[in-house]
Amino acid sequence: MHHHRFSVAPMLDWTDRHYRYMARIMSKQALLYTEMVTTGAILFGKGDYLQFNEQEHPVSLQLGGSDPQALAECARIAQQRGYDELNLNVGCPSDRVQNGRFGACLMAEPALVAECTQAMQDVVDIPVTVKCRIGIDEQDSYQFLTDFIGTVADAGVEQVTVHARKAWLQGLSPKQNREIPRLDYPRVYQLKRDFPHLTLAINGGITSFEAAHAHLEHVDGVMVGREAYSNPYMLAQVDAQLFGDSEAVMSRIDVVEQMIPYIEQHLAAGGRLNHIARHMIGLFQGQAGGRQWRRHLSENAHKADAGIEVLTQALKLMQDTAQHVSKLQQQNSEQGS
Ligand SMILES: Cc1cc2nc3c(=O)[nH]c(=O)nc-3n(C[C@H](O)[C@H](O)[C@H](O)COP(=O)(O)O)c2cc1C
Repeated sequence: MHHHRFSVAPMLDWTDRHYRYMARIMSKQALLYTEMVTTGAILFGKGDYLQFNEQEHPVSLQLGGSDPQALAECARIAQQRGYDELNLNVGCPSDRVQNGRFGACLMAEPALVAECTQAMQDVVDIPVTVKCRIGIDEQDSYQFLTDFIGTVADAGVEQVTVHARKAWLQGLSPKQNREIPRLDYPRVYQLKRDFPHLTLAINGGITSFEAAHAHLEHVDGVMVGREAYSNPYMLAQVDAQLFGDSEAVMSRIDVVEQMIPYIEQHLAAGGRLNHIARHMIGLFQGQAGGRQWRRHLSENAHKADAGIEVLTQALKLMQDTAQHVSKLQQQNSEQGS
């Protein structure tokens, strides 16, 4: 339960098993969410959408769907596969998802959501949780939100993550729906006061530990999405900052070194470098030479025959730049003194 104190948000195309493997190297404590996987993909898809690495635990599978029987069947399969938690997506506003009558539009149907989570909970022992918004379209009153949460909590859901902005179901792209509607954190704090027994995590726009600590004065957990992806190295601080872990924080180079055996395995099994390297592009964000790292990976990691050498070259380019920068700084300070 305590893992909810910090989680990495479910992000389609971003939080795949390779990203999560890297995230787990940096934080042993954070709860990691998968990308959303629809019940249709699990039950009728050709591929295996439930693969994950044993190292990823604790990992929560986010499901997209609104048919209680299909969700229950997926829940059963997911528990068998070893997931630690199941999460129902009640926050995604994309058109595709609305056509399937799931995602954020389900906020208007709390009884159906309750039926879904109940059906899942009936067949598994692992927690069934919900991720939602604070409202949709014109239905954005506090009463609307408490009716939704109240119904879902009555059905036995004990953990909810709330993205602290509403979604417009028409007219905005999913990306705009993560930027344009205003963030309303106090509304989520109020929710915790009104549902004190609920384990409540807040999500949306959190980019620093300072902000995370401030939120944790009011709620039980913070969920971070975009920042944990574009600046993944932030995860290396999570255990010390939020879980009281006293182990030394690893360096960025340590992260790359620990990724190498995993990448070698992936390549040996016929995988492409870029499947993994694309998630590592932001690793040196804000560092001297970080741009060289980013550029070298972006330009080379996708090539068909790209191997580990792309990473070692990128490291070398970055370190050369960093050295050059520090020499210049030294000269400057000598001149200045
Ligand atoms: C590329 C991308 C994909 C996303 N995919 C999902 C998803 O599959 N399921 C979901 O519930 N939210 C999804 N989200 C929303 C995030 O989980 C999160 O709620 C949102 O980005 C706000 O948090 P942040 O400001 O920390 O990024 C996605 C966001 C991004 C940027």
